[in-house]
Amino acid sequence: MSKFIITGGKKLSGEIPVNGAKNAALKIIPAALLFDEKITISNVPKIEDVTRLLEIVKDLGVEVKQKGNTVKIQAGDIKSGELSRDLVPKLRASNMLIGPLLLRVGEVVIPHAGGCAISRRPIDVWVNLFKQLGAEVEQGPKLYTFKARKMRGAKLVFPFISVTATEALMMTAVLLSGKTTIVNAAMEPEIPALADYLNECGAKIKGAGTSEIVIEGVKQLKARPFTVIPDRIEAGSFACLGAATRSRIKITHCNPNHLEVPLAILEQMGVNFVVGKDYIQIKEVSDLKATKIKTHEYPGFPTDLQSPFTTLLTQAKGDSLVHETIFEGRLFYTDILNQMGAEIIMCDPHRVIVQGPTKLYGTKVASPDIRAGIALIIAGLIAEGETEIDNIYQIDRGYEDIEGRLKKLGAGIKRLE
Ligand code: EPZ
Repeated sequence: MSKFIITGGKKLSGEIPVNGAKNAALKIIPAALLFDEKITISNVPKIEDVTRLLEIVKDLGVEVKQKGNTVKIQAGDIKSGELSRDLVPKLRASNMLIGPLLLRVGEVVIPHAGGCAISRRPIDVWVNLFKQLGAEVEQGPKLYTFKARKMRGAKLVFPFISVTATEALMMTAVLLSGKTTIVNAAMEPEIPALADYLNECGAKIKGAGTSEIVIEGVKQLKARPFTVIPDRIEAGSFACLGAATRSRIKITHCNPNHLEVPLAILEQMGVNFVVGKDYIQIKEVSDLKATKIKTHEYPGFPTDLQSPFTTLLTQAKGDSLVHETIFEGRLFYTDILNQMGAEIIMCDPHRVIVQGPTKLYGTKVASPDIRAGIALIIAGLIAEGETEIDNIYQIDRGYEDIEGRLKKLGAGIKRLE
């Protein structure tokens, strides 16, 4: 098992480029199965989750060519809709294949997808919504079988907001006859990015990025090249890292418009920065002030930035409240921060109080999930002494060459295989 060894306390400087968004790349790859022709996807991050998803589609008989950050996919003749039982549990985004495969082969057999240990990650909403489009679904103890009977457009009212379910049902409805309306849709930036692309290819999607999306089904799509949008969660994580290490780093190749709420929180905390069209330049960081963070669906504070910000809050003066409203299992990593010297009290599975500022000390830890992993890297960079982070597959799942990029800023981090 590889691990990171981090020597804390160093000031960083220089520029760190943001890669293509993991949570955009993991949707366009399944969307490629809506086309017969080859599609070329650029700015794809070289991360474990993308590698796994490409392995899963290759296993179906899809032709995949990857060169650097460009991926070419040609769906061609897909043998079956039976998804790999070894690979699927490694990432939740495997569910994104259900819709395109139903359209292509009419039947999908998929194990319960795994992913982060941040919640049970059910797909009950997906099952009900696909049934409303006319699919039949059998749920076994370990497997789901989806069958496309007479599928056609329908009005889909989401009982609560789900990002991937919005993307999955939107991309499926594109090729169903009739009109589909999604009520209570997610509005994350990756959704209008996907809709704009599909519309360029001939789809008829209106309202993506709002809470109501209307899709008029079309017969066929015409392939066009796709560029993955910058990863707003990487950009926000690096802004936290710059603030926590009090370093004037510049975060480049990002889209600050996708980070308005997290940037407002940083400003509230006393972090000075300048924002350009595609960069965030951290300036001097005075005494950090405690604040309140409440995660919320976009455009609210993103749950995927909760853990890096909580690490930053351990250095703020006063008591901060972090209210994680989306996932019931996404605050347990705070116990690891406490082992490093933080004073974080868990009020309930959704709320912690962070008392600061506290000095952090390096120790041996393991990454429980992708975003807690980057939070532990930030903690290691500001801790006194050396921090060893195990289970870094859970970091490589979401951040390409993170140690290479941080070393370029002067960080004391190395990977031990
Ligand atoms: C997406 O997950 C992201 N993953 C997550 O990022 C992100 O944290 C999450 O959206 C929220 O923004 C990808 O895009 C691949 P949800 P998703 O469906 O779609 C419950 C990361 O670190 N729910 O919006 O799976 C669910 O348990 C990852 O990059 C049901 O109960 O999240 C959660 O409590 C982590 N039943 C809430 O809804 C369902 O059928 C929101 O989940 C579906 C969801």
